[in-house]
Amino acid sequence: MTDIVPTVEGLAFGGDYNPEQWPREVWDEDIALMREAGVNIVTVNVFSWAGVNPAADVWEFGTLDDIMDLLADGGVKADLATSTASPPPWFSQRHPDTLPVDPEGRRLNYGARAEYCPHAPAFQEAVVEMASKLAERYAGHPALAMWHIGNEYYRSCYCDHAAAAFRAWLRERHGDLDALNHAWGTTFWSQTFTDWEQVLPPRISAETPNPGHVLDFKRFSSDALLKLFRSEAEAVERHSPGVPITTNLMVTGDFSGIDYHKWGEHLNREDRLVATDHYLIPEGPIEAEAQVAFGADASRGLARGGPWLLMEQAANSSAWRGGYFAKKPGEQLRHSLSYVAHGSEGAMFFQWRASRYGAERWHSAMLPHGGPESKTFREVKTLGDWLGRLAEVKGSVVQSKAAILLDFESVWASATPGQPSGHMAPYPELRRWHAALWRRGVTCDLAGPAWDLSRYDVVFAPSLYLLDDDANLRRFVEGGGTLVVGPYSGIVDRNDHVHPGLPGALRELLGVRVEEFVPLREGQTVALDDGTEGHAWSEIVRAEDAEAVVGYTDYPGGPAIFRRSLGEGLVWYLSTRPTDLNPLFDRLDLHGEFPGLPEGVETVRRTHEDGRTYLFAINHTERPSLIPIKGTDLLTGASWTPRTHLHANSAAVIRETQ
Ligand code: GLA
Repeated sequence: MTDIVPTVEGLAFGGDYNPEQWPREVWDEDIALMREAGVNIVTVNVFSWAGVNPAADVWEFGTLDDIMDLLADGGVKADLATSTASPPPWFSQRHPDTLPVDPEGRRLNYGARAEYCPHAPAFQEAVVEMASKLAERYAGHPALAMWHIGNEYYRSCYCDHAAAAFRAWLRERHGDLDALNHAWGTTFWSQTFTDWEQVLPPRISAETPNPGHVLDFKRFSSDALLKLFRSEAEAVERHSPGVPITTNLMVTGDFSGIDYHKWGEHLNREDRLVATDHYLIPEGPIEAEAQVAFGADASRGLARGGPWLLMEQAANSSAWRGGYFAKKPGEQLRHSLSYVAHGSEGAMFFQWRASRYGAERWHSAMLPHGGPESKTFREVKTLGDWLGRLAEVKGSVVQSKAAILLDFESVWASATPGQPSGHMAPYPELRRWHAALWRRGVTCDLAGPAWDLSRYDVVFAPSLYLLDDDANLRRFVEGGGTLVVGPYSGIVDRNDHVHPGLPGALRELLGVRVEEFVPLREGQTVALDDGTEGHAWSEIVRAEDAEAVVGYTDYPGGPAIFRRSLGEGLVWYLSTRPTDLNPLFDRLDLHGEFPGLPEGVETVRRTHEDGRTYLFAINHTERPSLIPIKGTDLLTGASWTPRTHLHANSAAVIRETQ
């Protein structure tokens, strides 16, 4: 965990800046407009490999020198990227084995970006060389505020380099072939390996692949990218010590190719910073504002409640999201403030100036094709003004008392082939719970099931398929916490072997015994005897050492929802997915701090170590609302009383009177 003070004053505000796409005279206008908007940091050099290293052993730093000097002279800091996310054609042509291979054995060509195999030695060497050269040259540059390694790591590869690296990783994890055969359950369908050379990535096969194999390959692929990140980060640290290092993750709710909890361990430490990108999903059951809160709370979770940064968002539409949607007036402002409310140390964008060409020419930008006389740029200037006024908030943290458990291995395991239901994917369910809590005004972290949970009063595990044992959750409950577990949790161990006796690892803790699963069809519901209903899943389930609180009215009959006291705490088990979560939250007596506020009026508090508190109040609705506290609104400087109205579609950040 790190603070980007003193290299950036106040909260970070800016975006990706790609001046190499523009003639020199535009650069001067950029700096002038950045100053006008209050931009204090930009991410440069993300996709400039071809410029800096145009041929083997040829290094040309002139353009980047000019950009860095321009920024320094203009008083704008640089989040300097290592440009390794997009090797240029000359590199791929010279090292064809660095081009990635898909599961069907097709080698992808160059022509877009991220065309690399993370396991190819030539690529691994090249990125360390690039990072070292840049760090050597720009360490100590007055514009340098932060190093930005790679870009949105996600690439996986199935080539022969991948096969060799996978075998090495498996030897490390499992030891010998017997252990691997056991872990993958290879006696099923006669898949027993007798020689390591037989072990391959899960390339396309004739039928349903082995789930243990698929799961380990996910772990391996995530670890390989982490290794790549670390190799660059360590090279940068050698030559440019003491400067914060980050990379832009995608901890946003619809991408789960990476085990971000493992990555968090390498970002959440001295001189490193957790940062994420977030592009909202325009259509779907969850409103944009709740999506913002989910992405932010997941990022804060990774930072274990400490500082993190929203590295990229869209100023208006993201064309690639499948449909051109435009943000309404004020929407970008409310969203940006909401990220800061949930703990971000700033609000940044992709990108500063809209590109005239290339794949993302229709992705929105802070400075749109329409120029500075535009709604988007006017709102950018307002945001710059707001963030400037919020400088004193920097370093304060959000202290949530509730958490939802998110586990990437569990997400992967429940997506392996051959599942009993196609409707039990964890991510949409976690997002649904999070959105329901957000609408109720309850701020919550996304936390890992193995983390110290003692800071929370209540922990939700709506979907936790893979769990080795119950020790950490038991500790939380016995210590006085309330744990709520959703169905199809605790079912398999780390190898995706079904625990004997259902619900597996959680059977004793929950005090229930599941006889059989009764999965429901798409759109099918099951009635419960408290007047509510469940969907997606139901079970024939019996209480062993728990109290049955709600029962099934129809088949499968019998109890559906259970409660059990244990030690100082309580544990609940839901054997179906409640369609409306509010009756459950009512039973738990779970409310936000201001229970009278309408849905869509968001309040989140940030607290400094010295006790100063800031209540962010963001009105995402069309009606004014009272926020019953006293203090000063930092955005306007005006005093705030319990009778002050928060206008529709507006925000206030109230430094509270103690
Ligand atoms: C991600 C990438 C950027 C850009 C944006 C917008 O955040 O990091 O390079 O592609 O998405 O699509």
